[in-house]
Amino acid sequence: MSGQLPAGIERVLFTEEEIEERIRQVAAEVTAKYAGRQLKLIGVLKGSVFFLTQLARRIDLPLKIDFLAISSFSAKAGAPGLVRIAKDLDEGIEGEDVLLVEDIVDTGFTLRYLLQTLSGRGPNSLAVCTFLDRTSRRIVQTPIDYRCFEIPDHFVVGYGLDYHQAYRNLNYVAVMRPDKLS
Ligand code: IMP
Ligand code: MG
Repeated sequence: MSGQLPAGIERVLFTEEEIEERIRQVAAEVTAKYAGRQLKLIGVLKGSVFFLTQLARRIDLPLKIDFLAISSFSAKAGAPGLVRIAKDLDEGIEGEDVLLVEDIVDTGFTLRYLLQTLSGRGPNSLAVCTFLDRTSRRIVQTPIDYRCFEIPDHFVVGYGLDYHQAYRNLNYVAVMRPDKLS
């Protein structure tokens, strides 16, 4: 990370070095927990992609990867949305040890929906690993097994997270300038 921040960015919250160090720690926890087993990482498109690929590189286990995409609709902006699967997994998960990988858990509605849906498909185990966790805005309580960072109540972008599809490729996590959010 060098030079000026892009327009729209207020400040850096976590640098690439901090992120990669933390991912290494979480990957070590996962490796220890699932020792002797094969793991399936399920990423939620598109926000979790950058995190998932870095995490997967640091997990020392036989591992498979699959993705799903969701869309959420809300009746009015900011209201809890209805969630549905826009792109489903390529393969079933019956009998597998599944780790659901999220970019951020905010209200918890998305995660609750995903856990309900995936648990109905007969995995041997189902756990959650989120890159960011904003507990201050939680509405539905959902179990989280692994989290990299708890974040304050600001809109953040980078390392996969977007604002209107932009900023995903920043190699750090940053707070958006509130005056740039519509
Ligand atoms: P939840 O259902 O409210 O927990 O919403 C989680 C989803 O909202 C995440 O998977 C993100 O796609 C999106 N989201 C929530 N907060 C942020 C943020 O600060 N930056 C970017 N995306 C966010
Ligand atoms: Mg998401």
